[in-house]
Amino acid sequence: MAETIDLEELQSELLSEIAAAKDLGALEQVRVSALGKSGRVSAVMKRLGSLPAEERKTFGAAVNAVKTRVSEALDSHKTILESAALEARLASEQADITLPVRPGPVSEGRIHPVSHVMDELAEIFADMGFAIAEGPDIESDDYNFTKLNIPQEHPARQEHDTFYFHPDSNGERLVLRTHTSPVQIRTMLSQKPPIRIIAPGRVYRCDSDQTHTPMFHQIEALVIDESTHMGHLKWVLEEMCKAFFEVDEVKMRLRASHFPFTEPSAEIDIGAEAIGKPGQWLEIGGCGMVHPNVLVNCGLDPQRYQGFAFGMGIDRMAMLKYGIPDLRAFFSADLRWLRHYGFSMLDVPTLAGGLSS
Ligand code: DAH
Repeated sequence: MAETIDLEELQSELLSEIAAAKDLGALEQVRVSALGKSGRVSAVMKRLGSLPAEERKTFGAAVNAVKTRVSEALDSHKTILESAALEARLASEQADITLPVRPGPVSEGRIHPVSHVMDELAEIFADMGFAIAEGPDIESDDYNFTKLNIPQEHPARQEHDTFYFHPDSNGERLVLRTHTSPVQIRTMLSQKPPIRIIAPGRVYRCDSDQTHTPMFHQIEALVIDESTHMGHLKWVLEEMCKAFFEVDEVKMRLRASHFPFTEPSAEIDIGAEAIGKPGQWLEIGGCGMVHPNVLVNCGLDPQRYQGFAFGMGIDRMAMLKYGIPDLRAFFSADLRWLRHYGFSMLDVPTLAGGLSS
């Protein structure tokens, strides 16, 4: 009978040790000290063999009952400790996503106004169903000029202040592209109409003063199908300007001009009301209907296909929208300027959420 009392005591001792365990580590220690190979319950088990057969049966059953009871207590206390640990972790890892960004690279860094304006324009044109096309900065003379209906010796070449590379052994010259218009050629050579693309990117001209830098940015647009006309062109330009300047109305005029790759050609002016300066006109780019020669140069039948193109200066759009006076500062890598005119990297422009927020 002495063994039975032992067992009761052992059980209640173990149960209170289990209840007192404050964390999973302490509980595991109790488990090992009770049920482990050299634990206290296992030690009692080992005594079974030395007992007479008739006692062995009842004592064995009693030890097993203790073992079961202790195991159950371990399991249920383990569940309680685990959920308490989870609660504690959730509470300590809580994040308030409405808090401002902590000081550090993410809050310090700024997106350059040119990159931001490119993102704004990409968002606006994507909404109108335009895809983004790209071409290389180092372009062939053929794509930059000849296929755009600007043959050798054409006076329009002069206006471009081109950076030329040395001719290769075949006499072919590469250039730093002077405009994004060669992306029109690349697109028409590689895609079948209907075509609807924009091509933002860097362009280069040997020119430098307050409003000119040797490298600057343009965005090109090209739409080709069987029935697109100047009315569509004007609508796209107007919608783009309203969305870009974030105004309900924008005054616009197309002023007759000349570009070899369009016929008719026009210069795009907008009323300076859009930037809060009424009474003036601002030139933002050139446009027109794609010249039949350009279509033919790209293997398209001008009897069947037609469309429009336009090109605008991105830097100029950024200067107008954000009131930035000097173009040269765009490329002088002055951190104070960037802190002032740059955008937080978390302010991704969207039409729904606001472009310049
Ligand atoms: N490529 C011209 C320039 O850089 C701008 C331009 C004018 C682009 C008319 C066009 C266009 O697509 O139709 O001066």
